[in-house]
Amino acid sequence: MASAPSAEVLAKLTPVLTKRWLSPEAWKIDVYERLDGYAALRKAVDYHPDELIAFMKESGHRGRGGAGFPVGMKWAFIPQNDGKPHYLVVNADEGEPGTCKDLPLMMNDPHSLIEGIIIACYAVRAERAFVYVRGEAIHAARRLRNAVAEAKAKGYLGENILGKGFNLEVVIHSGAGAYICGEETALLDSLEGFRGQPRLRPPFPATHGLYASPTVINNVGSIASVPHIVLGGADWWKSLGSENAAGTMIYSLSGRVKNPGQYECGMGITLNELLELAGGMEDGHNLKFWTPGGSSTPMLTAEHADVPLDFDSVTKAGSILGTTAMMIFSDQDCPVYNSYRWIVFYAHESCGKCTPCREGNYWMTRVYRRILSGQGTHADLDTLLDACDNLLGRSFCGLGDGATSCVTSSLKYFKQDYLDYIEGRRKPLLKASDLVGA
Ligand code: NAI
Ligand code: SF4
Repeated sequence: MASAPSAEVLAKLTPVLTKRWLSPEAWKIDVYERLDGYAALRKAVDYHPDELIAFMKESGHRGRGGAGFPVGMKWAFIPQNDGKPHYLVVNADEGEPGTCKDLPLMMNDPHSLIEGIIIACYAVRAERAFVYVRGEAIHAARRLRNAVAEAKAKGYLGENILGKGFNLEVVIHSGAGAYICGEETALLDSLEGFRGQPRLRPPFPATHGLYASPTVINNVGSIASVPHIVLGGADWWKSLGSENAAGTMIYSLSGRVKNPGQYECGMGITLNELLELAGGMEDGHNLKFWTPGGSSTPMLTAEHADVPLDFDSVTKAGSILGTTAMMIFSDQDCPVYNSYRWIVFYAHESCGKCTPCREGNYWMTRVYRRILSGQGTHADLDTLLDACDNLLGRSFCGLGDGATSCVTSSLKYFKQDYLDYIEGRRKPLLKASDLVGA
């Protein structure tokens, strides 16, 4: 049975982005409007766009897609009076293993995203926005299209919005299910109708983005937070988080917890507190390792369960906050096998553009198969580290860098588990037949 969290920890739940999720049919515009919906837009358009950008900088709001780049600064990069069209692209391609915060947000509260888009476009003077939705999420794309139609019918989209002479069209675009299309420049190529492969950066999309025009690319959560920040104010948003990380975050817990799901709390909550909110570990399981932000972030251990989950503290602890997708593993899970599963994923999703990632991930799957089928050698551990050395910082995009996280961190904390396979103390998890081609 799940134990109830203490009142102190329960008080850390801070529903802001998730506050409408339990309201019946909050995805419908009438319900949304009754629950403060589109009030932030009315407030925002009374400001000059430059004031809004300055306000967003002041709020300290940082991106929720994984990198944590300051949102106001990104908006400020868009050159003005350049005679070019400006675009906003919302990255809703959420594909990072373990990550599941954007999809429920789009399903439960799609208008918060649409309202955030309108405010952001007003600020950066964009007249067209695209939401790039992960291909498999047909239901989310459908719900967003419906929300766009509702907003248009009410005059929040289209021409002369709220009588302010500002025009905006929003296009909901479904991807085709490739992880690499979550990388912002591959996403742009895909949106333009090309095969999704990363572009060289710089130039950054802020100046050379969609159709070579200035483009803001923000994650779903980054943009859906905007109406709340506009209504609540910059100081309020800052007060919800920790020193260098303003606001709340949707932390997604999966794996060996009693109540997996999304828990929205102020930045800086710890894993131990989140586990308490989630009813604790599954019976008979003890925490062994976990990811703070999806499989691309180095795994941490039970030793790190009291690290404040904000950008700087997690970096100091040797990982990355990433997408706050906490995958929780116990003493009954194998870090070697999990790393193998993730490397298989990266090898499959590698777009093939650069050699370190295309070849490195392929070779690492072969090495893992040898180890997990009981035929590994001590030299294989050096080969894995050598492959990571050739990937990290030498890959064309973040996919290659991210792939090394599970390998280097599992070897750092759990080398003994690798040695147990190599030295015959642990039963092989893979069969010799899995070695075909290895
Ligand atoms: P990044 O740090 O390279 O860039 C972050 C953002 O800042 C980008 O939009 C970039 O265009 C902008 N930027 C950075 N420097 C700039 C400059 N000098 N001028 C103008 N703009 C600038 O990070 P990246 O590669 O975009 O994202 C990596 C993160 O994505 C990882 O930390 C990972 O956690 C996360 N990720 C998230 C996934 C998801 O499903 N949400 C999937 C895979 C990775
Ligand atoms: Fe493609 Fe991987 Fe190179 Fe990124 S690192 S460009 S995904 S091959």
